[in-house]
Amino acid sequence: MVEVADAIRFILNDEDITLTDIKPDTTLLDWLRLERRLRGSKEGCAEGDCGACTVLVGRLMDDEIIYDSVTSCIRFVGSLHGTHVVTVEHLRGKDGVLHPVQQAMVDHHGSQCGFCTPGFVMSLYGLWMRDPDPSQAAIEKALQGNLCRCTGYAPIIRAGKAISSYGRPEADPLWAERIALKGKIRAINDGRRVELGEGADRIIVPGSLDDFAAVYEANPTATIVNGSTDVGLWVTKFMRSIGPVIFINHLEELKRITETGSEVRFHAGVSYSEALPVVAANFPDMGELWHRIAGEQIRNMGTIGGNIANGSPIGDTPPPFIALGAKLQLRKGAQRREIKLEDYFLAYGKQDRQPGEFVESVTIPLLPDGEKFAVYKISKRREEDISALCGAFRVSITDGVVSTVRIAFGGMAATPKRAKAVEAALVGKPWTAETVEAAIAEFAEDYQPISDMRASADYRLLTAQNLLWRFFYETTGQGQRLRREVA
Ligand SMILES: Cc1cc2nc3c(=O)[nH]c(=O)nc-3n(C[C@H](O)[C@H](O)[C@H](O)COP(=O)(O)OP(=O)(O)OC[C@H]3O[C@@H](n4cnc5c(N)ncnc54)[C@H](O)[C@@H]3O)c2cc1C
Ligand code: FES
Ligand code: FES
Repeated sequence: MVEVADAIRFILNDEDITLTDIKPDTTLLDWLRLERRLRGSKEGCAEGDCGACTVLVGRLMDDEIIYDSVTSCIRFVGSLHGTHVVTVEHLRGKDGVLHPVQQAMVDHHGSQCGFCTPGFVMSLYGLWMRDPDPSQAAIEKALQGNLCRCTGYAPIIRAGKAISSYGRPEADPLWAERIALKGKIRAINDGRRVELGEGADRIIVPGSLDDFAAVYEANPTATIVNGSTDVGLWVTKFMRSIGPVIFINHLEELKRITETGSEVRFHAGVSYSEALPVVAANFPDMGELWHRIAGEQIRNMGTIGGNIANGSPIGDTPPPFIALGAKLQLRKGAQRREIKLEDYFLAYGKQDRQPGEFVESVTIPLLPDGEKFAVYKISKRREEDISALCGAFRVSITDGVVSTVRIAFGGMAATPKRAKAVEAALVGKPWTAETVEAAIAEFAEDYQPISDMRASADYRLLTAQNLLWRFFYETTGQGQRLRREVA
């Protein structure tokens, strides 16, 4: 018999919060500003893009508190059970003295209208706590998810570099109080399920992975909310009702990553940030893509499981994972099954998932020695942008001849999809420009892309073809990349 608690509990700055009446779709930003009158966090876009609402959320990981910058506009209050939420109001000392991050921003003229400033301060604060002497690249990465319309970024980056000359993290209250904070967070995470509300207002926070499996099997129409970087927008942009909800982002078992030497298994709750070191070590050719998924806050929140489960044709992980031959582990109650990732995507908005079944993990075989692999993301902005198309290529060459090849694209069809006609035109042929030239025509067989705000159909088709050229030239080291103009 599972024990059930009836309150969402977390720490807000230095206050213990207990909520017994909260709606599934109440965002942290609204709650802070409207209920708590903490108006430092701003609403710029309400879709995770601008970073004006950035706060830190601390959670226990290997018995340490890890603070992630997150966008509070698309984080739901119900998902905060067992965390420490830190807002910009917490930074100034009780004596009124500005925090080192704030003082550095003032002294380096890092603010004009100030609307974006609390978000920048919180992103820089999160960075300084884990990396007090960051490189310029680290600062730029931490600020990928923060937009400023008037100051420009150079003064803010200068401020970011200077913070440690104003103070060190060891003197920060969060560091000084971490033992007490850990104790509180540990006490809240007591393994009990939390349930509140009725009908569409019902919130369920399972106590464990097994509990989640049982609860979802019994409530198959509930909305699973993982990192909420998609579901958040259903609420803030599409005004959709999402209740009843099951929040799963806190489940440590869903954050496991297993490396066996021949494959890597990511459980569904692993965020992009958590996956990064393992991706970099095992799939270095995916590194550039990883840094171009969203911005830092969204990478801290968004999960691999959510990116696959949502079935989007333009999610960035399915094309490379499909090219690498990934398998998906699905679970319903105690029953588990495994399918090829490419078979999960049946049609637009339709996936091979039964009522009450969820994505538990994805397993990716390591690339055998000598095989060539690349993934290319094409988007209008370098970061914080969804792909117009994303293409992944994997080829093995034996004695100059293509022995196996897998090509998969997002943004070219209603689902992430393999280019089987192109593959058939390549396999068994010498890996030469003539072979590539002959295979190029097959793209039109595999894909009939659409025109939308991200790209025209012609652009998509031509770019996909050119990416095969790029892969060919990169893998053969021949001369310059071929350039073709869009007609
Ligand atoms: C500003 C911004 C930038 C973005 N940039 C990118 C980008 O560059 N590339 C990209 O690919 N995506 C991008 N996204 C989209 C999003 O971040 C990703 O798709 C993310 O991986 C979704 O994961 P999540 O955990 O937040 O999913 P959620 O929003 O929690 O859930 C998404 C869907 O999956 C379902 N779901 C979640 N987990 C499971 C599970 N374990 N089993 C079954 N169903 C589940 C939910 O019910 C929901 O239908 C961006 C989003 C934002 C807001
Ligand atoms: S308000 Fe823009 S990211 Fe939250
Ligand atoms: S200071 Fe005005 S938006 Fe950044």
